[in-house]
Amino acid sequence: MAKINDNFLKLPGNYLFSTIAQKVAAHTAAHPEQKIIKMGIGDVTRPLVPAVIEQMHRAVDEMGTPEGFHGYGPEQGYEFLRQLIADNDYKARGVEIDADEIFVSDGAKSDCGNITDIFSVDNVVAVCDPVYPVYVDSNAMSGRAGEFADGKWTKLVYMECVEENGFLPQIPKQKVDMIYLCFPNNPTGMTATREQLASWVRYAKEQGAVILFDSAYEAFITDPDIPHSIFEIEGAKDCAIEFRSFSKTAGFTGTRCAYTVIPKSVTVEGTALNALWNRRQCTKFNGVPYVIQRAAAAVYSEEGKKQTRETISYYLENAKIIRQGLQEAGLTVYGGVNAPYIWAKTPDGKGSWEFFEELLQRAGVVTTPGAGFGPSGEGYIRLTAFSTREATQEAVERVKQML
Ligand code: MLT
Repeated sequence: MAKINDNFLKLPGNYLFSTIAQKVAAHTAAHPEQKIIKMGIGDVTRPLVPAVIEQMHRAVDEMGTPEGFHGYGPEQGYEFLRQLIADNDYKARGVEIDADEIFVSDGAKSDCGNITDIFSVDNVVAVCDPVYPVYVDSNAMSGRAGEFADGKWTKLVYMECVEENGFLPQIPKQKVDMIYLCFPNNPTGMTATREQLASWVRYAKEQGAVILFDSAYEAFITDPDIPHSIFEIEGAKDCAIEFRSFSKTAGFTGTRCAYTVIPKSVTVEGTALNALWNRRQCTKFNGVPYVIQRAAAAVYSEEGKKQTRETISYYLENAKIIRQGLQEAGLTVYGGVNAPYIWAKTPDGKGSWEFFEELLQRAGVVTTPGAGFGPSGEGYIRLTAFSTREATQEAVERVKQML
């Protein structure tokens, strides 16, 4: 008789953003006259930039010719894209990463979840609290999280990121084996300094732990002192894996292209994780479409860089509008400076789902309740800067009116 992976049965409710989408759909059905403004899920709204579209068209045309047709591509990604990533995202910042340490994929979300395949189920996993739910749910699915009780997983180590510690995770007291870090942070929008990241690298090396570093939002860093990559930290190439994405950098949320960097020097029990991940990808993944990889490569052209920088600036301006507007409305806000997320404290100690509902019902503004990211997110909501300028301004006005 077949048996299911009963770890799935332990998962509480739906994936966070599906729950929110359902609530919004129900609200819209009940109030079709109200124009809803979505500041919840971090989905981009600016179109793909002309440099990307041009290369995408060219690649589509190539595919229609006998000489330019591409069937199965390399599971790891085409060399042309991996080399551009190595040169532009790493070498340009003084970091030596070889093209064969880069694995192109369809998303940082899938990679952050799938990476659990190559780790023992016995590893102790540390996550920030609040946290991007993918790290938690995917470890729960693979049986590494224990049981869900009183809002927490029994086997996960939660690193509280709260107002008192500047929303930065502290080195855990107990020994952990896998450490998820995300900077600029989703959901708080906070960043880590070079020294703070260096202390994580030191800790990971001492403990023989692996840092799973999500830097999907690095393009939003404007402060020159903040590292964009964990590999800017000495020693990180011995203990870290990095996840990056074209989603937020270049508007690829619907187009799908990302990459994971696993230096060959990261070993666990004498085995190189690069080789294990390569084995995993070759078995379970057939690569990102040629057309999409050509489009991603265009992000690194002079025009592509200029145009994507303009898009990032547009979102950062939205972030500023949200920050200022919410502050004027009397809320305490964090993030939104080197990140597209604004982390706002709910007024009068309201619960985050309660404030989420109030904003939805009364202002027609969709946010993400902080509690959805973990127990320490209670009392906060997250807003994204990825809407259009008009929608952002209107949402802020509506919230101000409501408050
Ligand atoms: C978010 O809103 O946290 C992100 O859009 C989720 C994601 O990138 O998967």
